[in-house]
Amino acid sequence: MNLNIALLPGDGIGPEVIQQAVKVLNAIAEKYNHSFEFKKASVGAIAIDETGNPLPDETLQICADADAILFGAIGDPKYDNNPNAKVRPEQGLLKLRKSLGLFANIRPLTTYDALIHKSNLKAEVIKDTNFVIYRELTSGIYFGEKQASEDGNEASDICKYTVEEIDRIAHLAFKAAQVRRKKLTLVDKANVLETSRLWRKRVAEIAKTYPKVNLEYLFVDNAAMQIILNPKQFDVILTENMFGDILSDEASVISGSIGLLASASIGSHTAMFEPIHGSYPQAKGKNIANPLAAILSAAMLLDHFELYEEAETIRTAVEKSIELNITTPDLNSTNHFSTTNVGNFLSDFILDDENTFYNK
Ligand code: IPM
Ligand code: MN
Repeated sequence: MNLNIALLPGDGIGPEVIQQAVKVLNAIAEKYNHSFEFKKASVGAIAIDETGNPLPDETLQICADADAILFGAIGDPKYDNNPNAKVRPEQGLLKLRKSLGLFANIRPLTTYDALIHKSNLKAEVIKDTNFVIYRELTSGIYFGEKQASEDGNEASDICKYTVEEIDRIAHLAFKAAQVRRKKLTLVDKANVLETSRLWRKRVAEIAKTYPKVNLEYLFVDNAAMQIILNPKQFDVILTENMFGDILSDEASVISGSIGLLASASIGSHTAMFEPIHGSYPQAKGKNIANPLAAILSAAMLLDHFELYEEAETIRTAVEKSIELNITTPDLNSTNHFSTTNVGNFLSDFILDDENTFYNK
């Protein structure tokens, strides 16, 4: 298969982890005779430095022309600590999601046996946890009207949802639940928010067309607690933009590190694949960032094009690296490996047909 992939490494550790994801994709291309072509474009703080714009027109065009986009990370402390900044790196990512119509962000959560005992959470609580968060990505409080008064004494962010915006992601989430363990949990704050009540009404209606799926409702405050208390109860979690953002960072603790969580953002045209972690500026340039979230995002990219065996090959290699403790410091306090070491191990493992060396 020929694929044109837009690469948007972005800020902080983005370029380092994307480099390893490309290395792994190149190994897959070689092993399975595919042709992956990469086209780099700038986004985020680095794009502001270069052009004044966090999402230059050229970047948007490269993304629109590509079969898929692989995204690194975005954000820079010089903007985080400046509430008056008019242009922010995050605007680049938000505009990209909106312009490309990437309304559904899919964030799977899995556990690795080799990491269970390293978690801060009890092994019996987290073992075999497997759920996926369907986060609405192009609406809600992120995209509603924003205001800040002239005198600086008032500000507001409007949270708005339409029936169409709810329905399209709800259908995707129900379809996912249908081929998984047939349970869907809608997370909202329907005891307080009008938008949540609209979500409940629509999702209850849509549920009638998926009779095999068991629908449950959970308020977001309770959901935050249940995710840590009893994560195995979840199969598919469907939720609005901001709740999904918060709950997915929380859920990453179950896996062992936020450096493990991948995501796919899909819509009507193209698709984008990105780790859920941020730009981790403290680690920039140190070759210590965990590349697995970016690499597992590349596996989700392959799944998207129905290259299931190829995607599975990446996941098997990742599992092997974790099993052998060939991991970065977030997962490995002693004898840790570098970002590059992990990428090299994975690409070697993928290309070593007999697995002669590593399987010994
Ligand atoms: C994420 C990130 C982004 C978000 C930021 C960088 C705008 O936290 O992808 O989860 O809030 O969506
Ligand atoms: Mn986030």
